[in-house]
Amino acid sequence: MSKFAVLGHGVVGSGTVELFFKNKEKICRRSEMDLDLKYILDIRDFPGLPYSDLFTKDINVILNDDEVTVVAEVMGGVHPAYEFVSECLKRGKSVATSNKELVAVKGAELLRLAKEHSCNFMFEASTGGAIPIIRPIHKCLAANDITACAGILNGTTNYILTKMLSDGVSFDEALAEAQRLGYAERDPAADVEGHDACRKICILSSLIYGSHVYPEWVHCEGITALTLEDAAYAKSWGGVIKLIGSVKRTKDGRILPMVAPRFVNKGSELASVEDVFNGIMVYGDGFERIMFYGRGAGKLPTASAVLGDVIDCAKHKITILSQTWEDSRDNSFIADYKEDTVRLYLRLKDTDADEVKKAFPNAAFITREGQPAGEIAIITDSEKESAVDEKLYDFKGRVCGRIRLLDI
Ligand code: HSE
Repeated sequence: MSKFAVLGHGVVGSGTVELFFKNKEKICRRSEMDLDLKYILDIRDFPGLPYSDLFTKDINVILNDDEVTVVAEVMGGVHPAYEFVSECLKRGKSVATSNKELVAVKGAELLRLAKEHSCNFMFEASTGGAIPIIRPIHKCLAANDITACAGILNGTTNYILTKMLSDGVSFDEALAEAQRLGYAERDPAADVEGHDACRKICILSSLIYGSHVYPEWVHCEGITALTLEDAAYAKSWGGVIKLIGSVKRTKDGRILPMVAPRFVNKGSELASVEDVFNGIMVYGDGFERIMFYGRGAGKLPTASAVLGDVIDCAKHKITILSQTWEDSRDNSFIADYKEDTVRLYLRLKDTDADEVKKAFPNAAFITREGQPAGEIAIITDSEKESAVDEKLYDFKGRVCGRIRLLDI
């Protein structure tokens, strides 16, 4: 017998409750116990729901109830989620969270608290929505040296890019639809500016490489500067533009996490990941590469991952140490992206082929329909990003598009 509580009755919280009651019998069978929902914490009132009697506005009711051994935190944001989750863990209550911001900012500390109090802090729902990615990394793929990981980690931006580039819908319309469907963050700037994908690549990087990677250490670009012209050039090159969160080990043993739009060749499995779907490619010595694919956002997909963790938390009374990582004192293990070797798509204006060739002698020229006079687009040869920047100094004020190719 085990009781759990849900903190927050927003999109994911209500989905968690709904999916639990829908599949309660199966969940109990798979939990090998009589698992029941005892409380839902929310400051709002939800009259008329069949489970209205479960609501409380006071976290202490949950904290002080010894019958509650597992808590699902689906509130989002760092505060007060951090305070609530810390208190739960200190009292030996395991926590399952979908809150990527909380894990990316406080993960190392919360994992340490779970260890100290012999319980679990689980976060499968924080990355990739319904896609199992956290467990595969620390369990199924545990025997490998994971050299890199790259993926479409944000459903909202992938939905927007698909609608804009394939269906001709405007950015604002596509974003409004993503909000209506419950994909976007409360503040959708977190999606379109890349911060949500950044939090997710921090979580994956920390899990894979064992040291906490904080969001402020990661170079992050969103999709707001992308234009239909860039998309047309991507198409003529033979690919698409995707917002990619990536991390790889560099030759000197450091790691390079990054979030940025990328030209993705049609030959890559990631190119065909569309709408709200996420696709995450993991590279390792024993298996070459594995792609994880599925719904990356939304009420029930995220609830599915939250409840999977609730079941696991109810079954595991001791801390699962393979999913923990250490806190990091400094960021010297993070490589400088400017020192990485890249190939870039560049769109330059008020120029001509001779001037561009002089600066980039080995570049490939690409064209688009309706290309105006004076506009040149190229794919550069591989070189250090800092060296490309030096060359671009002569094109100051004339660079209209600049997107890295996905090179992993
Ligand atoms: N806003 C997020 C996304 C929700 O669109 O991917 C899931 O983490």
